[in-house]
Amino acid sequence: MTLFDRVFGGNDAVYGLTEGAIDGAIAQYGEDKAVSFPNTAYSLPCYYAVTGTKVTTLKELKEALGVVKTLMTREKRLNDAFMSGVATALCAEFIEVLKYIDGATPYEEPCYGHLADAVIRELGVPLVTGDIPGVAVILGSAPTVEEGVALVKSYQAQGILVTLVGGIIDQVAEAGMKTGANVRVIPLGKDVTAVIHVVSVALRAALIFGNVTPGDAGTLMKYTMDRVPAFVNAFKPLDDVIVACGAGAIALGFPVVTNETENIFRVPKSLIVQEDVSKFNATSLEARDIKIKITNIDIPVAFASAFEGEIIRRKDMQVEFDGSRVDCAELVQTCDASEVEDHKITVVGPEVDDMELGSKNSIAYVVKVAGKNMQPDFEPVIERKFHNYINCIEGVYHTGQRDMQRIRISIDAFNAGFKIKHIGEVLYASVKNEFDAVVDKCEVVIYTDPAECTRVRHEVAIPIFDKRDERLDTLTDESVDVYYSCILCQAFSPSHVCVVTPERLGLCGAVSWLDAKATHQLDPNGPCQVITKERPIDENLGSYEDVDEAVQKFSQGALEHVTLYSIMQDPMTSCGCFECICGIEPFSNGVVIANREYAGMTPLGMTFPEMASMTGGGVQTPGFMGHGKHFISSKKFMKAEGGIERIVWMPKELKEFVAERLNKTAQELYGIENFTDMIGDETVATDPEALVEYLTEKGHPALAMDPMM
Ligand code: SF4
Ligand code: NI
Ligand code: NI
Repeated sequence: MTLFDRVFGGNDAVYGLTEGAIDGAIAQYGEDKAVSFPNTAYSLPCYYAVTGTKVTTLKELKEALGVVKTLMTREKRLNDAFMSGVATALCAEFIEVLKYIDGATPYEEPCYGHLADAVIRELGVPLVTGDIPGVAVILGSAPTVEEGVALVKSYQAQGILVTLVGGIIDQVAEAGMKTGANVRVIPLGKDVTAVIHVVSVALRAALIFGNVTPGDAGTLMKYTMDRVPAFVNAFKPLDDVIVACGAGAIALGFPVVTNETENIFRVPKSLIVQEDVSKFNATSLEARDIKIKITNIDIPVAFASAFEGEIIRRKDMQVEFDGSRVDCAELVQTCDASEVEDHKITVVGPEVDDMELGSKNSIAYVVKVAGKNMQPDFEPVIERKFHNYINCIEGVYHTGQRDMQRIRISIDAFNAGFKIKHIGEVLYASVKNEFDAVVDKCEVVIYTDPAECTRVRHEVAIPIFDKRDERLDTLTDESVDVYYSCILCQAFSPSHVCVVTPERLGLCGAVSWLDAKATHQLDPNGPCQVITKERPIDENLGSYEDVDEAVQKFSQGALEHVTLYSIMQDPMTSCGCFECICGIEPFSNGVVIANREYAGMTPLGMTFPEMASMTGGGVQTPGFMGHGKHFISSKKFMKAEGGIERIVWMPKELKEFVAERLNKTAQELYGIENFTDMIGDETVATDPEALVEYLTEKGHPALAMDPMM
């Protein structure tokens, strides 16, 4: 048998199954029955991406199958094999979508099945920063449980996002390994067709971030090949169906590594035989050209970004530190070089061994840094990273910041020998590693003595926090001389540029003006560049010749004009990883904002994913704007259209999150008390009529404003 026979044979087999399944469904439900995957604006995502046609009913699904058939040409050329691979993948998507008929939830823990658009948007920033350096798709059963688990853990330790299909899912479960999106190990499903759910992620990334036109299959495949760092590990035995799926993966640019030696055909850099499973990791990274940043830290447990989302429950914890109950603090302090002894770590007070099991304790750590290029402005930027650093420790959990942090150390980590001093090691190594351009020397003092914690918190930390807050309050767009560009997301959105100002942070929510300034200092040729603001065109719109020139340059000419404060005229572009999306609501002359976490309906008749699909990929779309959560309370939010007075609806959770700051801004700008009270949410209205009624009753100011379009 040739490779062609196997691919074509596998493709024919899956096609037959799909046809049978669709006919069966039509017989059962009738051809008008709706079909879709939940929480996506691109249903069916793979078929839509490849053909440009949306499928909503069984009838359309049957027609789509006819289109798939046209891809299944049988000449023995490489392209025919690839297209048959793509056809196999599309058939898999059809089989999978049938499982979701009638709002069914076909996947149960630990399997995920279809992944929501929101999950893909969340992956945007970690993928561009290299925090997630790659995506592994592991298929089938490893020769032994130990080898399977070791492979998964090896990727996890590198921060690689791992998806599992088939027998490997039971193998990691048997070994008692924790799985889930929060530890970057995602079991998709046990049928081979479940592999489509990761293909769907790759193709939607092209639509969401890449501005690829649905149906432009050539550009689509180039996008996934160039920008989605995925690869496949397939365990033997490979049947023809898996081989056909593999051809689809290769067509998208994802190399396949397998330990199958029989009846297999090596294709350089694409279909690679590696008999030794312990070498799958190295072979795959080499084939996909993935480089791993290594941070070697001398601690008794693992340290990797994959553990960032790990949660330690009360019953699993050895000890806890809780700033909301006892005195705690975390602080970066700029010192003179003579006051800092590099890599010195001191613990003042009891170690974990001296603390009772399950007890609540005080902790305060002061990271003293010195460096020629260090500026006090960078202190909060470094400090905010502590959350990520400490969370990356396996078995340690961190939330909050400043003097309100909470840390848990798990019983497992404790038993492995983890101590307070290791927190110091982690902070030292991470700060030196990431901030080497500004930090020459770094020393960590960790206080656990309660009296010392009280002293550090009240006499050292709080006065510094207060001073910083004053500084932040005076940081306005008018008070600074320069803004910054950020083009980090160009890895996925080639023409997207964020202009970051003190009052408008990056739409991902992760890059403030101070962050951008620090990033520029750390890496002068990096993603954040200075934008001068010497030649204003219109202060109300926030348009500047300098800004226009910068976006023209950084978007390689794709953008000509960008305003900072308007949603209608030359609005800033979006990449796709925005925390919130705001869109015009014509009946109230206002705007509706939805956050990524919100799963319900909005008065625009669209869900978050549907609103979000209106913009992205670095294209300007007047009327829709992606933005960070903190921008909502900014005095510059849609200033050109009248500002925050235009906000008429937000999900309740988001409203509560921004209430304090938003109310303060409304009070200062318009003298309105308790403005958030006037704003609708899903408990009040999810349709425009009920919303307007509510706004009228509350006397919402937007109703009296000029229409925006
Ligand atoms: Fe991406 Fe903009 Fe955030 Fe930079 S500021 S990471 S370009 S969304
Ligand atoms: Ni106190
Ligand atoms: Ni982005």
